Amino acid sequence: MALPLVLGIETSCDETGVALVRGDELLVDSVASSMDEHARYGGIIPEVASRAHLEAMVPTLQRALDTAEVELADVDAIAVTAGPGLVGPLTVGAAAAKALALGLDVPLYGVNHVIGHAAVDELVHGPFPERVMALVVSGGHSSLLLVDDIATAVTELGSTLDDAAGEAFDKVGRLLGLPYPGGPHIDRLAREGDPTAIRFPRGLTAAKDQERHADDFSFSGLKTAVARWVEARQDAGQDIPLADVAASFADAVADVLTAKTIAACRRHDVGTLVVGGGFSANSQLRDLMATRCEQAGIELRIPPIRYCTDNGAMIAALGAAAVRRGLAPSDLDLPVDSSMPLTRVTV
Ligand code: KG4
Ligand code: ZN
Repeated sequence: MALPLVLGIETSCDETGVALVRGDELLVDSVASSMDEHARYGGIIPEVASRAHLEAMVPTLQRALDTAEVELADVDAIAVTAGPGLVGPLTVGAAAAKALALGLDVPLYGVNHVIGHAAVDELVHGPFPERVMALVVSGGHSSLLLVDDIATAVTELGSTLDDAAGEAFDKVGRLLGLPYPGGPHIDRLAREGDPTAIRFPRGLTAAKDQERHADDFSFSGLKTAVARWVEARQDAGQDIPLADVAASFADAVADVLTAKTIAACRRHDVGTLVVGGGFSANSQLRDLMATRCEQAGIELRIPPIRYCTDNGAMIAALGAAAVRRGLAPSDLDLPVDSSMPLTRVTV
């Protein structure tokens, strides 16, 4: 018998993602983005994103089926993002998934978006060893997860107390006058600057933070420090050395993310680290993490960038893992949950 064919649907933010996984093999991953429609507002407008999902859903699904050369009737199970994310966009994806599950009479699995960001790496680099650490960093989340089983046993060790890493980049981008989203622009500028030019604060790394917040992050103090530094220069009528500010800021974020993640790997005796989420495109984070993992003897797994940003493959991957383990499917009236906790992998 052929391995089960799982269709994954992702609509939690501005990307409409549809993917097909057979067994543990990714057949196709098709994505439509509405980012261009949001750029001029300087942030994602949920209503605009919802409408774009509605318009993109059927064409994106059709493109996936055509590329994989399969029929809708071949699909054995459907996985959809149940949360966390924007409630309007999530609802569009869930409605599409429910209609398909009902029409095809196949099981439906509502899955956790953040955990999907880690799960997708199994499609790229193969099954996870017994225990892995996962760092999921994007515009919406910065979470450290201890993964004993990707479909059933994920523990959130810590997360950001305020801004996500990508969000901090976008906010600093705005104050430096860069286009939205600022993250990739800061990354590019930072490569031309001196990361030691300005010593910005490293949030939650003081000895007193080790007790309660060893695995948590905080980037809002850093963002404020950058704003103050820039204002002081402007008030003094001096030029802003953009590349040095970007490099020093990016270094502070990468330093904290890598140091805390590697300390957590050591504390939990984990030899494999998975990094996912849109912010894992950041070259300062990638470079420093690679260096420090090598020094620490930790195997580093980062999927290619297209699987780090929001996509359907991550949802199909987690759905396929649930199917493989024989988990009970979700009810057809499954609710979407904009703040779905990381204690729930599937609904
Ligand atoms: O995962 P993603 O596509 O969407 C969310 O779920 O948030 O992540 C997008 C975030 C944005 O904040 C964007 O500025 C940031 O990731 N980002 C970057 C880079 N590429 C994307 N930040 C810094 N450096 C990059 N190269
Ligand atoms: Zn995401």
